[in-house]
Amino acid sequence: MRVIVTENYEKLSEVAAGIIAKVIVSKPDAVLGLATGTSPIGTYKKLIEYCENGLLSFAKVKTANLDEYVGLSPSHDQSYHYFMNDNLFDHIDILKDNVRVPDGTGKDLDKNCKDYDAYLEKTPRDLQLLGIGGNGHIGFNEPKTPFGSKTHIVDLTEKTRKDNSRLFKEGETVPEKAITMGISEICQAKKVLLVANGENKADAVYKMVCGPVSEDCPASVLQLHPDAVVVLDKAAAKRLDASVITETL
Ligand code: GLP
Repeated sequence: MRVIVTENYEKLSEVAAGIIAKVIVSKPDAVLGLATGTSPIGTYKKLIEYCENGLLSFAKVKTANLDEYVGLSPSHDQSYHYFMNDNLFDHIDILKDNVRVPDGTGKDLDKNCKDYDAYLEKTPRDLQLLGIGGNGHIGFNEPKTPFGSKTHIVDLTEKTRKDNSRLFKEGETVPEKAITMGISEICQAKKVLLVANGENKADAVYKMVCGPVSEDCPASVLQLHPDAVVVLDKAAAKRLDASVITETL
């Protein structure tokens, strides 16, 4: 696991976007696994900038998102599909036919999970971008999710619903369930890039990097990935000893 510690969120975003851009430049039809949450927003801003400046094109890129709330349609402004359009897809030259977000709507959610598994299987990802939850979750794979899991429906923990409520308007309730890519599928990406900023992530980051590889901290599985890169700001890296830091930028 490569651990890069940056001065601040701006620098973190620049470094993470640089890693993604390199993948696209060396393979214009790359497949990217993408994430929502506040952590990758700066990274997406940088990618939009590179695209606007003509440095990067997403014309042949395909994407597959990590997760989605159950019951929210893509047009709902709290859905992750909406988030992706708003924060990235609407501002770059990607073809909307080339983007996938798990479908949390309809009566047969099991079929939605199987369809997503099949898509991931036939569309191997060159890179998977991740954030990390305060309890170490990746995607919506909460602690105790089996490492071998595939796309599934999850009951969100109270902590996750509380953490995510800050992104909802007053009076709106955070859905109780979500559909998420499984941990085994996250790990199938050739490269995994996790971004985390802020002191509230410091404990989860510490467990991911230094703790035992355990289903109690889903992100700890990345210790076993052959090409995992973690990009942090100083605050998220607060508990890390210098010996586990690969680079400081
Ligand atoms: C949500 C998402 C995760 C994300 C996490 C952290 O639960 N499902 O994919 O990594 O939140 O979000 P943030 O980056 O806003 O802290």
